[in-house]
Amino acid sequence: MAGVSAGMLTAMSGVSLGGGAPRGRAGKLALLGGTPVRGKPFSAWPIWRDKDDQPIIEILRSGKWFRGWGDVVRQWEARYAELTGATACLGTMNGTNALLTALHVLDVGVGDEVIVPPYTFVATISVVLMSNALPVFADVDPETFQIDPEDIEKRITPRTRAIIPVHILGGVADMDRVNTVAKKHGLAVIEDACQAHLAQWRGKHVGTLGDLGCFSFQNSKNLPCGEGGAVIGMDSKLMDQCHSFTNCGRPYGSVQGGGGNARLGTNRRMTELQAAILLAQMQYIEDYAKQRTENAAYLTSKIEKIPGISVRKDYPGTTRCAYHLYALRYFADEFGGVPRGRFLEALRREGIEVSGGYGPLNKEGIIAGTLASKSFQRAFSKERLDAYHRDNECPANDRLCEQAVWLPQYLLLGSKADMDDIAEAFWKVYENRTLLA
Ligand SMILES: Cc1ncc(COP(=O)(O)O)c(C=O)c1O
Repeated sequence: MAGVSAGMLTAMSGVSLGGGAPRGRAGKLALLGGTPVRGKPFSAWPIWRDKDDQPIIEILRSGKWFRGWGDVVRQWEARYAELTGATACLGTMNGTNALLTALHVLDVGVGDEVIVPPYTFVATISVVLMSNALPVFADVDPETFQIDPEDIEKRITPRTRAIIPVHILGGVADMDRVNTVAKKHGLAVIEDACQAHLAQWRGKHVGTLGDLGCFSFQNSKNLPCGEGGAVIGMDSKLMDQCHSFTNCGRPYGSVQGGGGNARLGTNRRMTELQAAILLAQMQYIEDYAKQRTENAAYLTSKIEKIPGISVRKDYPGTTRCAYHLYALRYFADEFGGVPRGRFLEALRREGIEVSGGYGPLNKEGIIAGTLASKSFQRAFSKERLDAYHRDNECPANDRLCEQAVWLPQYLLLGSKADMDDIAEAFWKVYENRTLLA
């Protein structure tokens, strides 16, 4: 097995991994010199089994590392399409390029506007900016951390061409309402499912509910291969366009014609080695997903009664959550006024890996910087850009970014006793709150 080692975890958390000293809610906080609740690391991630080495070695020795010379990417695409119920799947070099591909084939480009949530990884908006289009933020629903469907329609202008609902943290955006608004206004829907492998909405896999769906297989993801991505979809002609576009515009399926170059294209191909790692990882994806779901429910039952803790909820339409991150909101005023940073530090010192998650993306300097560029000045009027800056407010997201607490998915890959440790650390910090404020 390989992955995050106990030593790395210790270094990351700053915890001295001792043991044996008295533990429990009433004990002295590790931050104040007591013994940490957790004396050993959680699961490693990613998890690699030596028995899965052989196919990788065979590819290395064959010299067929590029998809054009081998068959492993194609096999993996067929498997992922089958798993998700998609008509087709295309492997790409990473999730960012999957999103760029989707935007391109749906003809979202210069002068267009795309509705996005502010509570996401920067790639969701950088791909829009890279396409010389304007990312227009709709606020978040603080209960679910997903894009607020109520706010989407208010942000639509005559230039809006698409919506990118992000299934953030492995939860699912309200796809009924996203698709209803999209249909009403004739907008494309690109699902950013980069964090939501196996998540489902009303029994259907995310990525198959809009026009195209994009995934990431970066190292930390629930299905990892270091770097990797995919576009999936139900429309085979659109998927043929994606295949051709990412393979230098060569003919593919219904995309024919030209002297070897059927359309404009680029190279965003997945390699055979990436696909081989994914094929190996796919053997365990269901088991890990079930374990995360069970442990998340158990952990919630153990911590939901702590004042000031509100665990992230899913919409009723979410029939499966991917738990890429287990998240909650922390309300300092119900926790003796202990600032979130101090609460997080206390948990880390108890041996629990936690973070505060995203900052407000709509306030990132890259937006103002990019909008000041020559391309944007040419593509948008001064009035539109001024109005954009004026209206670029997402107050619910601002609050969420100050309250969120994340636990990474691999913490959920342990036993019930591991979940008990996490819960015990939360309670211990709560019960010692007056010493932290
Ligand atoms: C929500 C979201 N979108 C897009 C991406 C981009 O994926 P990649 O890192 O594979 O390019 C990520 C990856 O972290 C992500 O979390």
